[in-house]
Amino acid sequence: MTKIPSPSIIALDGPAASGKSTLGQKLADSLGYLFFDTGIMYRAITWIALQHDLDLRDETVMTDLAQNAHIDIRPPSKNDGRPCDVIIEEKDATWDMRSGDVDANVSVVSSYADVRKALSGQQRRIGLRGNIVMVGRDIGTVVLPEAHLKIYLDASAEERAKRRYNEIIARGEQASYDEILKKVIERDRIDSTRAVAPLRPAEDAIIIDSDKMDADQVFERVMGLCR
Ligand code: DC
Repeated sequence: MTKIPSPSIIALDGPAASGKSTLGQKLADSLGYLFFDTGIMYRAITWIALQHDLDLRDETVMTDLAQNAHIDIRPPSKNDGRPCDVIIEEKDATWDMRSGDVDANVSVVSSYADVRKALSGQQRRIGLRGNIVMVGRDIGTVVLPEAHLKIYLDASAEERAKRRYNEIIARGEQASYDEILKKVIERDRIDSTRAVAPLRPAEDAIIIDSDKMDADQVFERVMGLCR
């Protein structure tokens, strides 16, 4: 029997904390594909600006950073739940990029048209090589509209806040569920109402609501679609 090849370009979009990274990593591992979480790029730019006290409201400054920053992604050097190392200016910024400060500012940075142009150009170049699971907000709509399989992974804000809360507690850090929920709702609002590449499912995306599904069930469903 002829083996039908798996889709070579998989676009995985959805709101913050919907489980895209966990799913994307597992899919990539199973298919032998590259896993690329594009949120890292927006987070990295935001983190550098905060480190250097740059004005995050200045679109020109942020665009310059997006066009010139050197962000290095390497295989994980520690077994602490990280999917990869993110090295910026010789520093391991892997977890710093997930800090509350970055969370609070990254949506504004990612709303700038020229920042998006610089970063999505890089993402597209890498994605077109194929054999890739690319995760973000606009992969199926803007970065790789020709993706062979487009998944939009959704979940309620309450469920997503609960998952983020549990992740932070599992790392031994302190967190407030109510605060996290407020931030999730605010990020959803900014991500889905921005003028450029707003968060929304592509017309040909398959929408999966993960509220009542665990990570394994979502994975099985998507693997079924790949087959
Ligand atoms: O997926 P994440 O939470 O790490 O994303 C961080 C921010 O980057 C989020 O506010 C949305 C933005 N983002 C985006 O606008 N486009 C992408 N392709 C990926 C992330």
